[in-house]
Amino acid sequence: MQDLEHSSGLLLHMIGIVMIAGSFLGLYFIQHQFWKLVDTDISKSGALLPLMKTLPIVIQLGVLVQIISGIALLHSRSWTFWGQNWLYLKIILVVIAVLNGILVGKKLGGKIAMQVFSPAPDRAALVVLKGKMRTFNAIQLILVLAILFLATILRIMFS
Ligand code: HEM
Repeated sequence: MQDLEHSSGLLLHMIGIVMIAGSFLGLYFIQHQFWKLVDTDISKSGALLPLMKTLPIVIQLGVLVQIISGIALLHSRSWTFWGQNWLYLKIILVVIAVLNGILVGKKLGGKIAMQVFSPAPDRAALVVLKGKMRTFNAIQLILVLAILFLATILRIMFS
């Protein structure tokens, strides 16, 4: 029974990773197109904003799946991982990524939308926002990679 719980937990954990990584990759390509349109025909760029709003929601749902399946995985192993540093570090990184997404990413998205839909978009402000969005994406990517490495290769070092 414990094995069925563990394998179901792992399956859910993998589904969560696919939701997070798939949406992240999709967002990367959509944002690339979006900034191209901002340069060439800003009035059309707004059409991509609904997708740029929906994919982060899928990422958040993926994180929720990770938390639920993570707890199931811990339970299936009788909480033996609880107390190991790799898990604490992983949870801290997940919290940082979530807070960064809500406090920084969401705000940036709102500011970009405001400019794009404004009757007189401020080009200089958009250039600054593009740079900030790039930095935000890079930080989120580093956090996700660090979480993946901690859960696999670095796990032995931190257990
Ligand atoms: C973005 C968030 C997360 C990602 C990308 C992630 C990724 C992973 C990966 C790749 C593994 C290795 C799977 C294996 O051992 O075969 C793993 C294992 C594990 N994760 Fe996560 N995880 C995340 C969040 C969480 C959270 C929030 C928890 C706890 C509440 C958690 C608990 C665990 C546990 C206990 C294992 C060990 C499973 C085992 O080997 O028996 N994970 N995770």
